Amino acid sequence: MAHYLVTGGAGFIGSHLCEELTRRGERVRVVDSLITGKRANLAHVPNVEFIEGDLADFSVATRAVKGIDYVLHQAAIPSVPRSVEDPITSNRANIDASLNLLVAARDAGVKRVVYAGSSSAYGNSPTMPKVETMPTAPLSPYALQKLVAEQYCQMFTRLYSLETVTIRYFNVFGPRQDPSSPYSGVISLFIRALCEGRQPTIYGDGEQTRDFTYVANVVDGVLRACLAKDASGEVINVATNGRVSLNQLFASLRDLIGAAVEPIYASPRAGDVRDSQADISKAARLLGYTPLVTFDQGLRNTVEWYRASTESATAGRT
Ligand code: UD1
Repeated sequence: MAHYLVTGGAGFIGSHLCEELTRRGERVRVVDSLITGKRANLAHVPNVEFIEGDLADFSVATRAVKGIDYVLHQAAIPSVPRSVEDPITSNRANIDASLNLLVAARDAGVKRVVYAGSSSAYGNSPTMPKVETMPTAPLSPYALQKLVAEQYCQMFTRLYSLETVTIRYFNVFGPRQDPSSPYSGVISLFIRALCEGRQPTIYGDGEQTRDFTYVANVVDGVLRACLAKDASGEVINVATNGRVSLNQLFASLRDLIGAAVEPIYASPRAGDVRDSQADISKAARLLGYTPLVTFDQGLRNTVEWYRASTESATAGRT
C-alpha cells in the first residue's frame, strides 16, 4: 500500500482521484484550503486523512508531504476569466503554492509528483491536434501560471532529481463539477441552466471547440503517471483526441435534457482560446493510456448525476 497526497482533494477532480485510490486500497491524505473545494465532495470516501490549509503557507506544505510516496497536485484556482479579473490571487494559488509544494516534496523524499497542467498552455497555436513539443503561447494569467508551475516541475527534476510528471488536462467535466459560480466549467453551467429551463449563454459565435474530457479518463491517466517507468520529467496530454464546438455541446445537452430553449449569444471572453484538441499518442506510448469513457457517455453520466443530486437536495428540504 502506497501513501498518496492529493492536493485540492476536496475539489472536483481531486475527489475523484481520492475515490479511485481508496477503491484500490491505497492510503490517502488530502490537503485543501476549501476556497473552492468542499468537504461534502469526500463525504462518501472512507478513511481519508484531511488537512485543511493553504499550500501558499510553507508550513502547510511541509506538514502535508510528511511520509508521502506520491503527490497528486490538483490544488489550484482554476478559470481563465477569474485569473483575468484577479491575477494576484490566482498567481498565489497556482504558482507560489506549487513552488512550496515542490520544495517540501523534494525535502521529504517524495517518490514522484504528478502535476495537473493545462491545455491552455497551447494558446492559439494554429496546428491541431496539440502535440506536447509545440511552442507554448499562454493567453491568460491562468494559462501562464499553469505553465510556470509545469516548468518548475521539470526544473526540479533536472536540478534536484525530484521525479515529476505534468499531465496537461483538456476541459475536464463530470459529476461533482460545481455549477454555482460564473467561473464554473461550461458543461456544468449548461446542464444546470437547461435543467432549470433557463437559457445558457454562449460567449462568441459558439464555433470554438474543446476536447472535453470525462473525469474518469483523467483519473486513469494521472494514476498511470505515478508508476510509469519513462515518464519522469515529461509533459503529457491526457484527453480524448475529440473536438466539439460549443454549439454542438449545447445541442447535445438540449436533446439529452429535453429542454426547449435557445442559447443567448454574448461577446467572446477575453483570453479565450479558439480551438483545442489533444494529440494523445505520447500518453499511449508512455502511460499505456487510452480514453475509457467517450464524450457522449460522459455527458449522459454527468446529466444523470446532476438530476440525482438536485432531486436528493429537494427531497432533503421537504
Ligand atoms: C481552460 C482550459 C482548461 C482548464 C480550464 C480551467 C483551454 C483550451 N482549456 O478552459 O483545460 O481546465 O481553463 O478553468 O484553455 N463558455 C460559454 N458560456 C459559459 C461558459 C463558458 O460559452 O457560460 C465558453 C468559453 O468562452 C470557452 C468554452 O465555453 O470558449 C469553455 O469554457 P470553460 O469551461 O470556462 O473552460 P476554458 O476556459 O476553455
